[in-house]
Amino acid sequence: TASQFINTKLTGKKVLITLGATIEAIDPVRFISNHSSGKMGMALVNACIEMGASVTCIYGNITTILNPKSNNIPIISAQQMHTKVMDNITGQDIFIACAAVSDFFVKNAKNQKIKKDGKNLILELLPNKDILADVCKLKEKPICIGFAAETQNTLKKAKKKLKNKGCDAIILNDVSNAYFGFNVDENEVVFLSQNLNKKIAKKSKKKVAKKILEIFIKECL
Ligand code: CTP
Ligand code: CA
Repeated sequence: TASQFINTKLTGKKVLITLGATIEAIDPVRFISNHSSGKMGMALVNACIEMGASVTCIYGNITTILNPKSNNIPIISAQQMHTKVMDNITGQDIFIACAAVSDFFVKNAKNQKIKKDGKNLILELLPNKDILADVCKLKEKPICIGFAAETQNTLKKAKKKLKNKGCDAIILNDVSNAYFGFNVDENEVVFLSQNLNKKIAKKSKKKVAKKILEIFIKECL
């Protein structure tokens, strides 16, 4: 039967995934965000479900379709994503941080639309909390996979992130080629763990997701 070919290696596993772009309000009509589409994250959600996992998906702004089989929790800002992740992390076996989280929020965000007055407008940006690093610091921490979006010295920087954040694996996404990896249907990444450095050559995000999980299960589970 076909079932013998279905990979059910995540059966019984609970997976929490963040994906998409967070949005930081400037005022009720403007915001700061990024080019993330959520496509890579959704490919991982779909692959985890196919492999038998029970998935919670905490998502920001996305241009892709949610999987109705996951527990889908919407958020807008990085602070909201942080709160929802912490609310749902207990009992999770695997945490995948695929979201493009805004590193800053607008300190002087306004409740009313800002009117132009011919003068300069100065926005003060304060750092957001690092969700992945905070999950990695938990006493009962799930196995953690992070992503690293880099434009230069990519391998060195990704390795540093793996170490500094204390996660089990980092998926390096070279985003130097404008928009490559963002809002497109294909991706090329490098899977990095303490003992492994494995390139996943350019292919559909669906196939990249399966490959990431295959390596992850072998190396980290
Ligand atoms: N991440 C997170 N919370 C943040 C920022 C990032 O959980 N506030 C996660 C991302 O989801 C990703 C990983 O951390 O899995 C790396 O994100 P990235 O933006 O590449 O790195 P940063 O640590 O934010 O550092 P920088 O942007 O300065 O390179
Ligand atoms: Ca960042």
